[in-house]
Amino acid sequence: MPSLPDVAPNVAIVGATGAVGVELVRCLEERNFPLASLKLLASSRSAGRQVNFRGQALTVETLGDDSFAGVDLALFSAGSGLSKVYGPKAVAAGAVVVDNSSAFRMDPDCPLVVPEVNAGTLANHRGIVANPNCVAIIAVVPVAPLARAFGLKRLQMATYQAASGAGAAAMEELRASTQAQLEGRPFSPQVLPHPYAFNLFSHNAEVDAESGYNGEELKVIEECRRILDTPELPIGVTCIRVPVLRAHAIAMTLEFDRVVTPEEVREVLAAAPGVRVVDDRARNHFPMPSEAEGQGDVLAGRVRRDLGDPSGRSIALFVAGDQLLKGAALNAVQIAERLVPAAKPQLRSGELVGAS
Ligand code: A2P
Repeated sequence: MPSLPDVAPNVAIVGATGAVGVELVRCLEERNFPLASLKLLASSRSAGRQVNFRGQALTVETLGDDSFAGVDLALFSAGSGLSKVYGPKAVAAGAVVVDNSSAFRMDPDCPLVVPEVNAGTLANHRGIVANPNCVAIIAVVPVAPLARAFGLKRLQMATYQAASGAGAAAMEELRASTQAQLEGRPFSPQVLPHPYAFNLFSHNAEVDAESGYNGEELKVIEECRRILDTPELPIGVTCIRVPVLRAHAIAMTLEFDRVVTPEEVREVLAAAPGVRVVDDRARNHFPMPSEAEGQGDVLAGRVRRDLGDPSGRSIALFVAGDQLLKGAALNAVQIAERLVPAAKPQLRSGELVGAS
């Protein structure tokens, strides 16, 4: 099993020109991640492109079989097909892989990690660590401490998902279609299946004909259960794409083992690592994608009793998190920080070192 050196590692990013890849580069720079070298890999379309990193111009290289020689840590974000092919090659070359795709998320040999929740599972990796689905990450950051405090019996969610989850091309399609609509020009979508400007639609993942659930919803359910280590937890979710560029929001209802008050919930959330409470009833100010954008924390608020459950055991919440940061690149870099001994001092004070 590959492990990371005590000294600063040689790092590669696969998919460095994509929506998440660009944020990976930025997170490594902003968090002062200790690295000896950084290699940027993408398709041949991007080869030769220059990217600035710590004042130096790095040249994007074409991903190939030889790309991982000398690489200690590879951060993948180029889709599950490429992860399945090149992830094992990177491990064979001696690298530890943190993979942002869905390729290995349900593989028992690959821990599925949100550092605030289950960093302890990292000890079991065999070369590949999976970075969870963006909705699953943004959901479990506030849900896990509440589940720990009160015992979770059931979780019900509806998502409001940004374009960024479908990649840089979908973000561009949202911009271009909005502009076309404002100018009264026709626009035919190429990336997403439905008109995106001034519209919303059921998530574009394939729908299972029998259950009616789409692939995104099934991932969210399976991954939340795995991260929370509650394989039987009843979870229901409806995933919707909304015309927002890069932050997801989730309306959620949590049913606990006992009667829980909104005050108790607010108290737990206020102390939870990675959560910022935004819950101002007087000003009608609650989590919004526009305020989650660019933030590492998940915003949580609208804490109130769920009046649909007269027992008093259910609480409703609204949360928002940056899909490209905590939902993807930031979580991957936080995982890398746990793996690299030299990065330990970089951990933010709010994170629970060794949480399991
Ligand atoms: P490229 O920009 O050269 O196409 P996004 O999720 O935003 O669509 O980004 C996908 C990332 O995966 C991009 O960096 C993209 O590079 C990269 N990618 C796509 N296809 C390949 C490929 N065949 N080989 C290497 N990288 C790829």
